[in-house]
Amino acid sequence: MRIDVLTLFPQAFESPLSCSILKRAQDNGLVEIALTDIRDFAEDNYRKVDDKPYGGGPGMVMMPGPVFDCFEHVQKLSAERGRVLLLTPQGQKFDQARALEFSAEKRLVLIAGKYEGFDERIRTGLGAEQISVGDYVLSGGELAAMVVIDAVVRLLAGALGDESSAKDESFSEGLLEYPHYTRPEIFRGMKVPDILLSGDHAKIAEWRCQQSIKRTKKWRPDLLRDSDTT
Ligand code: ADE
Repeated sequence: MRIDVLTLFPQAFESPLSCSILKRAQDNGLVEIALTDIRDFAEDNYRKVDDKPYGGGPGMVMMPGPVFDCFEHVQKLSAERGRVLLLTPQGQKFDQARALEFSAEKRLVLIAGKYEGFDERIRTGLGAEQISVGDYVLSGGELAAMVVIDAVVRLLAGALGDESSAKDESFSEGLLEYPHYTRPEIFRGMKVPDILLSGDHAKIAEWRCQQSIKRTKKWRPDLLRDSDTT
């Protein structure tokens, strides 16, 4: 998979991309992640990429020119057009199902903006899908882009050491995960449930399934309601 990120802050991605699973996935050739600075495509000597909104109002709006020029440059870097995603709080909510869907793409092109918003022609002209990572406003799309990259890349075959772990975890079946325990058997008076020490794998699987349902009902009943309606 190839992921291109168009951003005003490429340096913001350096640290998250250089550790743990994201680093390993790049080192192992599962994903190539390329960062391109939108400001390099500014049309004036001040490297201006935003301007006041027509019609008045507060804040600044990302200008279409630098984003289009940056996009067109990035498009030439790979034959695959890719799925173009615009990170914005107005977008469709990003969730595990969408992460799975994106992980099947050959290429993703993520556009992260700063400032109050994008000129509408960026969305319409580039045919971009709007994606939000949650109902809150971040100061820019960079953190949102990193959330998407992390959730997608860890689903690529071979990204996690243990193939089964991505399938078992929270949300993969629309439920929260069952509780996990490791050594010691008793920690400060708190004991590991006997069933996990029983060696009875069928019983353990059943217990885990019940725990998942119980926890989802208690902590995230909205997930059960959502799955009823689909
Ligand atoms: N940019 C600012 N807030 C955002 C959000 N919640 N999701 C995606 N992009 C954003």
